[in-house]
Amino acid sequence: MAVGIQRPAMADIEAGVIDLSFLPGLSDPTDLRIPGPTPLPPAVIGAMRAPMVQHRSPEMMAFYTETLRLAREMHRTSGEVLIWAGTGSAGWEIPIVNLLEPGDPVLAMVNGDFGDRFAKAGIALGLTVNRIDIPWGQAVTEDDLRTALAAFPEAKAVFLTHNETSTGVTNRVPELTRIAHAAGAMVFLDSVSGVGAIPLDMDAWDVDVVLSGSQKAWMCPPGLTIMAFSPETLARAEGLEGRGYARYFFDLASSREAARDGTTATTMPLTLVYAFRAALELLAAEGLEVAWARHARLGALTRERLSALGLALFADPAHASDSVTTFMTPAGYTAGSLRDAIRDVSGIEIAVGQGPVKDTVNRIGHLGWVHEADMLRAFDAIGETLRS
Ligand SMILES: Cc1ncc(COP(=O)(O)O)c(C=O)c1O
Repeated sequence: MAVGIQRPAMADIEAGVIDLSFLPGLSDPTDLRIPGPTPLPPAVIGAMRAPMVQHRSPEMMAFYTETLRLAREMHRTSGEVLIWAGTGSAGWEIPIVNLLEPGDPVLAMVNGDFGDRFAKAGIALGLTVNRIDIPWGQAVTEDDLRTALAAFPEAKAVFLTHNETSTGVTNRVPELTRIAHAAGAMVFLDSVSGVGAIPLDMDAWDVDVVLSGSQKAWMCPPGLTIMAFSPETLARAEGLEGRGYARYFFDLASSREAARDGTTATTMPLTLVYAFRAALELLAAEGLEVAWARHARLGALTRERLSALGLALFADPAHASDSVTTFMTPAGYTAGSLRDAIRDVSGIEIAVGQGPVKDTVNRIGHLGWVHEADMLRAFDAIGETLRS
């Protein structure tokens, strides 16, 4: 046999000749119905088998340029999409350090655990954060924001969560953005569990920054921070170059310069970018609006079936999310014991609550690569568990 390059032997992995049983996802697989990470479609798994390449090659640069174009299409923006190795939380930090200066006043609209963390990121980074707490399960109303801005007109930005994954509530972004802009504040939108699943029209809604992570409706493993910036926001960031926050890895200017050349400022996380591209192709083939409609159907079906099982929904029905549903843990269970019982009956994994409702609500994800049949299996499992 020739000595030298060893070709990857995928067949050996599949045949069990190469033992990977130490991986928890292989030794004890579950049917994931948590709100992220979400299951990976075969095309995404297949893409991650592609070997490493010279990441600054012309072919790779053409590939990456097209990947960013598709990502812009999925945000519906003529601005720019940039990608960093990171998770959703890095997406809070990036607009802060590139578009604001230490001490700047911002308004954080908090209606769940992720809004809370966004506010805390601002505090940790030295902003003057005025935080407005809205009861969990409720959406941020136009009045909430109008009143908050009237009392805090100096706010330079509003931190807003598109889809509060901890409560299963979707905020009304277009209306809230109009109010923020009328008061001269930018909108930094956390759409980690929104983009790709529920309507987001960045340009038409005039949102300044949209941040997300790869592991939700993007149908990829965790590990990419995906950021979309409007053209006005990019111009504003240029005005802050050389002042404001010290930054290196998350510097917008160097990332933009690299992206213009079809690459990233540091070594590209190739496998995750392959995965992301495959997911974008899937979304484009399905059609973004068709994907939104699929999620709307799954959201309605989930609310209907859980209610039919006698479970009380947690989120205000007028603002219930179509990517994650939260329900009150029924009597006789804690959130954790119900999750465990469902897993024991069916191998299906749902989630517990977060923050103050950690033990009293359960969450079920219906975002990304998910179809009616997947959800019907989950409802059957929940019903069987409750009857047993
Ligand atoms: C709305 C929202 N924002 C931010 C995050 C944080 O993302 P990560 O855990 O990838 O840092 C999450 C994660 O679930 C989320 O749902």
